[in-house]
Amino acid sequence: INAFVKPYVIPEASDELNQNLESMARSFAVTDDRIRIIIKEFHKSMKVGLDHDDKDALPMIPTFVNRRPTGKETGSFLALDLGGTNLRVCQVSLNGDTTYQLLQQKFTITPEAKESRLWDFVAECVAVFLEEHDLHPSQGRRAIPCGFTFSFPIFQTGISSGNLSMWNKGFTVPNSVGRDVVNLTQSAFQRHHVPVEIVAVVNDTVGTLMTSAYSFPDTQMGIIFGTGTNAAYWERLEDIGKWAGDRHGEMVVNLEWGAFDNAARVLPYTMHDNKLNRKSSNHGLQVYEKMISGLFLGEVTRNAILALVDQRLIFEGRSSELLNKSYTFDTAYMSAIVFDDSPDLSATKTVLESTLDLPPTTLIDRKAVKNVCNMIGTRSVRLSAAAMCAVLLSRPELLKSSVSVGIDGSMYQFYPDFEKNLYAVSRTFLGDDFVDNRLALRLAKDGSGVGAAIVAMTVDNDRKAAT
Ligand code: GLC
Repeated sequence: INAFVKPYVIPEASDELNQNLESMARSFAVTDDRIRIIIKEFHKSMKVGLDHDDKDALPMIPTFVNRRPTGKETGSFLALDLGGTNLRVCQVSLNGDTTYQLLQQKFTITPEAKESRLWDFVAECVAVFLEEHDLHPSQGRRAIPCGFTFSFPIFQTGISSGNLSMWNKGFTVPNSVGRDVVNLTQSAFQRHHVPVEIVAVVNDTVGTLMTSAYSFPDTQMGIIFGTGTNAAYWERLEDIGKWAGDRHGEMVVNLEWGAFDNAARVLPYTMHDNKLNRKSSNHGLQVYEKMISGLFLGEVTRNAILALVDQRLIFEGRSSELLNKSYTFDTAYMSAIVFDDSPDLSATKTVLESTLDLPPTTLIDRKAVKNVCNMIGTRSVRLSAAAMCAVLLSRPELLKSSVSVGIDGSMYQFYPDFEKNLYAVSRTFLGDDFVDNRLALRLAKDGSGVGAAIVAMTVDNDRKAAT
């Protein structure tokens, strides 16, 4: 464990500060041994979840997506991508040669939409998009078919239906849990006279997987490391015990790995995590997600920094009004601070003094803050890698050939060295040979929307063939 503790010691700082940094580093450390245990627990939990729904296991949701894209699909489809931060409305044109074009408009989801009028907000945004891009179907023509990427856990009852199991990532819209999210959206479309019909609903991880597979047919997994975190992968139907239908072939399973929380005993869960958890709208749930994803990392870091302030170990014991407020320490500040290699840590100084309004800081203060950010960021990427390795190792036969993993999300795109560290951890648990010669982590930028369009296209073609 020393290897995880020593880098955080500051030679010129007081013993007291260093002892605190050491013990903090110890509590956030994700050693190789711990990753081994996590992978084992993941496998147990995946197995139980595939067999039956169990609140103590991973949800392992069958998605009704059972065909791999070929890259030859063509056509133009509407896609709606409701993430944790933005709603994107897109028109996706699949070119049939593994490439695609995207016309998209991004709307920031307002706090009001997150708390109450989400479905109307979605309908209004789609109406704006159709209007601005002149996409309204002419009188008498059928409604525009659309793929809907929905980035929250739903228990799917079909390719175009699914009941919301819970909200997370700060959403609390009432009268939605337990109800079919496609119905809720479709009713809002009716209220707002939006001529769109949702023909497929997919999780964002499924969309990411499908987009990556459109360009790289060896894609086995789709992952989001963003506001939240989750993954989907191809599983053999014969191994999905709870699937009541045909057992031949494969199906994409949405893990909902953010919910890996009953295993908190094997996770490096600290009092700083607990403080966040206690105050969150989904208290006690999504513990893994809260240790990994962008919405939460800054807040855990803020809690840890305040613990040092309260012991008068940094900033002469002073805080600021802003730093005292929840969720003011954005995860993007962590990226800037971790990236800051200037001798006087000037970017760190700007964040602390200009953005967060703290009194003038010393170099030792800034080094301590940088070290705290590093501990929590490193914990995030190592836990992220542990989950990815666990899923890949659950189908060892796939690792004999080349494997692409489609990934999207702000942590993967913007957190310093995130991808490099994913590869580094993979080396230890999946082997050098596989990582060097067969593993490709691929950015599936804006993939979730494109993937929904690909699935919508398949469904729409099937329907046409049936009539
Ligand atoms: C949350 C949601 C999950 C989604 C993930 C990433 O974990 O429960 O469905 O895939 O965030 O957006």
